[in-house]
Amino acid sequence: MASGTLVTCLAGVGAAAVLRVLYWASQFVLYHFWRPSKPLTAYKRTSGDSYALITGASAGIGLAIARAIVRQGFGVVLLGHLPDELASAAKSLNPPLVRTLVVNASTATPEELSAAVEAISDLNISILVNNVGGFPMADPPIRPLSTLSTAEVDGFVDMNARFMARLTNLVLPLLSSKSTRQNHERSLILNVSSAGRVGMPWIVMYSATKAFNYAFSMGLSRELEDDPATAHIDCLAVAPGEVQSQANVMAEGAVTADEFGSYVVGGIDGAVKRKWREVRPYWGHDLQLGLMDRVLPDSMLTHFSREELREKKVMWDAIMAKRR
Ligand SMILES: NC(=O)c1ccc[n+]([C@@H]2O[C@H](COP(=O)([O-])OP(=O)(O)OC[C@H]3O[C@@H](n4cnc5c(N)ncnc54)[C@H](OP(=O)(O)O)[C@@H]3O)[C@@H](O)[C@H]2O)c1
Repeated sequence: MASGTLVTCLAGVGAAAVLRVLYWASQFVLYHFWRPSKPLTAYKRTSGDSYALITGASAGIGLAIARAIVRQGFGVVLLGHLPDELASAAKSLNPPLVRTLVVNASTATPEELSAAVEAISDLNISILVNNVGGFPMADPPIRPLSTLSTAEVDGFVDMNARFMARLTNLVLPLLSSKSTRQNHERSLILNVSSAGRVGMPWIVMYSATKAFNYAFSMGLSRELEDDPATAHIDCLAVAPGEVQSQANVMAEGAVTADEFGSYVVGGIDGAVKRKWREVRPYWGHDLQLGLMDRVLPDSMLTHFSREELREKKVMWDAIMAKRR
């Protein structure tokens, strides 16, 4: 009798596990391979042109997201630190509704940032994309924490964490503004984190600031939905794996920045509908991060992350040797 009960319990647990996997697999397929034909319509304003503010938008993933957003009929404000780069990025988009903001994410003072946000306060900003981030340090970017200078340690915090927190703080009132928004119209914040947020060796500061980005996004999302005055603002962390970009020239065979930009824009509505707080818009990254987060034991995650980073270290050693 006791063994019969045990068998029934185990069968129940097994069936629940199978159902869970089936549910996850169906959600994976539906989310990744059934995308809306007109994404982001919830974030359009009927009272005039709608704009997205995108940081780090003169190249790479930022510019690609801008391009994909422009295709949906939005205007864009491209924020970057080099005026010439920004001007040529703006020209490449070629819509009537492009503005640029020259701000250095690593060094901007609170006053400079306030002035920059004030300069765009005449626009209907309904989307903020906190994309700027990277490796503000001398090459090679993959090396032990002990070899970084104090300024390099701070540089990661300044560019990858402090800037997006300060900017979001200043832009939130624009996203909530009642004067430009009908009750049913929504706003959106995207925070570009990274699969590296799990904590990677030899890129400790990068992965730690990307974990900040992720936690900032989770906390803010929970906070915004609790208050009727801000519940219309959707907030999502975006977790890319490898993407070929200006910064990541070693990502051979990976999805390109332009492809990734389209995946991001196509993947927002589905993620919001499912009440996700983090989105991995490209299916390959979703599979990878799903394994890292939920399946692999720590020993395997450690092994694979070390192997991956060791390989990149070797490539960087070769680049550094050529430069000498
Ligand atoms: N590529 C990947 O594999 C990957 C993977 C995971 C996460 N991510 C994340 O995705 C985001 C974009 O990465 P990406 O690969 O597209 O980088 P990217 O190709 O280097 O592009 C970065 C953009 O930020 C701008 N920028 C650099 N320093 C700046 C500063 N101090 N102030 C303002 N703008 C600045 C750059 O402008 P200039 O060209 O004028 O310098 C460029 O427009 C980052 O947050 C990164 O961590 C990337």
